[in-house]
Amino acid sequence: MEFSIKSRSPEKLKTACAVVGVYENGGLSPAAEALDQVAGGVIAALLKRGDFDGKAGSTLVLHRPAGLACERILLAGLGKAGEVGDKAFRDAARAAAKTLATTGAAEAAIFLAEVAVGQRDAAWKAEQIVVMAAEALYRFDRLKSQKEAAKAGPRKATIELAAAQARAAGPGLARGRAIAAGVKLAKDLGNLPGNHCTPAYLAEQAKVMAKAHGLKIQVLEQKDMEKLGMGSLLSVAKGSELPAKFIVLQYQGGAKGDKPVVLVGKGITFDSGGISLKPPADMDEMKYDMAGAASVLGTLQAAAELALPLNVVGLIPTCENMPSGRANKPGDIVTSMSGQTIEVLNTDAEGRLVLCDALTYAERFEPAAVVDVATLTGGCVIALGHVLSGLLANDDALAHEVHEAGEVSGDRCWQLPILDDYQEQLRSNFADMANVGGRAASTITASAFLSRFTKKYKWAHLDVAGTAWKPGKEKGGTGRPVPLLVHFLARRAEK
Ligand code: BES
Ligand code: MN
Ligand code: ZN
Repeated sequence: MEFSIKSRSPEKLKTACAVVGVYENGGLSPAAEALDQVAGGVIAALLKRGDFDGKAGSTLVLHRPAGLACERILLAGLGKAGEVGDKAFRDAARAAAKTLATTGAAEAAIFLAEVAVGQRDAAWKAEQIVVMAAEALYRFDRLKSQKEAAKAGPRKATIELAAAQARAAGPGLARGRAIAAGVKLAKDLGNLPGNHCTPAYLAEQAKVMAKAHGLKIQVLEQKDMEKLGMGSLLSVAKGSELPAKFIVLQYQGGAKGDKPVVLVGKGITFDSGGISLKPPADMDEMKYDMAGAASVLGTLQAAAELALPLNVVGLIPTCENMPSGRANKPGDIVTSMSGQTIEVLNTDAEGRLVLCDALTYAERFEPAAVVDVATLTGGCVIALGHVLSGLLANDDALAHEVHEAGEVSGDRCWQLPILDDYQEQLRSNFADMANVGGRAASTITASAFLSRFTKKYKWAHLDVAGTAWKPGKEKGGTGRPVPLLVHFLARRAEK
């Protein structure tokens, strides 16, 4: 759906579908009220008769309302008046887009941004409408021989706002588009299976994106990584038939000397567990173990599209984690780029083994801050489910910034502590550290491990094991945490 912002009143509007908000306690949004007046109270009457409850996320379509120029009215439930929060608004916008797509409307006028949502401004509402519509209409049928016949929704839609607010909403519209495109890129890559989305394919897609958006890109090959001493990363890659790649992307929106934000994304294109093989149930889902990498690509694309005035570096270590005669064995000791040695007690804890070398590589950029994104631990799914990403950091101000970016974007995270006390679980009799710290607090011990490689800069870690993927009937990539990261960068750029 292509969005634009317009300032029209609903009563005389000739549109295929006017989308208006209705409250749970029978109240009408201003646009719903205006339509209701002209249409002789049809909306109020149907609410009274109990044909629509106004719960957030519910919808109802009225056809050819008498006395009005619009062909349809789509009622979008908002929940209780005066209590519309971020979630209710996002649910309403998502559901409205989904229902819209089931109609034959070729365009639509959306009157939802006028609704009061806490302290959120018009720009925020415009952004959320665009992002939620994209979420509702996303499909991945690239690998089906018969494309689904489902309607893709109207080609065009307007976000209707009073003139003063319409101007203020402009940046939100642009941000929404950039986020939606970044999320789509990340979802597509996450949904592609391991036999399509290989390390070489990821590198190729990074090149395509970089070329289209004017980013600098360099792809390090295995021999380059050997020279750099990335023994930890390479130890994971050597179990696979496919060579590892190390993708370095640079977006320069700031001044030459400005210290960059470095984003690091875990790019395991398939995680079988290696010799510490995973159980077969749901192993297919481990094709999304490169979701961190995909989100870094999506975020850099968005930063470039928005021409954010700051410098950003994207680092993507990518390989497969496979069992073979050359694979890491439990007990093997590898030497990381930092010089620290690691005893690989569990070959399934491979994410930290590739990330630690990328985090050491990040030092050369003298970063203002480093944020890594990884589907790192099953423990994070147990702790926070599919709602919140795990956030861990060595700097509280940075953690606060990342948390805030999550709140405003709706792509939320929750901080867990990295106390020194947890380091003891990583003790090894034979090397500087073990790569696992047991089942207890595995999300924290994974971060405690990474924190040994991030001493030279401010660092935050997002564990997206539970949030980058939606399980169940509608399983697939979510594109998270692209919305969070885009807001994080946009807010940094403002300073
Ligand atoms: N990629 C997995 C983590 C994961 C699990 C992501 C489930 C999404 C859903 C990671 O490489 C892994 O296997 N982690 C292990 C670490 C353990 C061996 C210490 C885990 O969390 O079970
Ligand atoms: Mn693993
Ligand atoms: Zn993994």
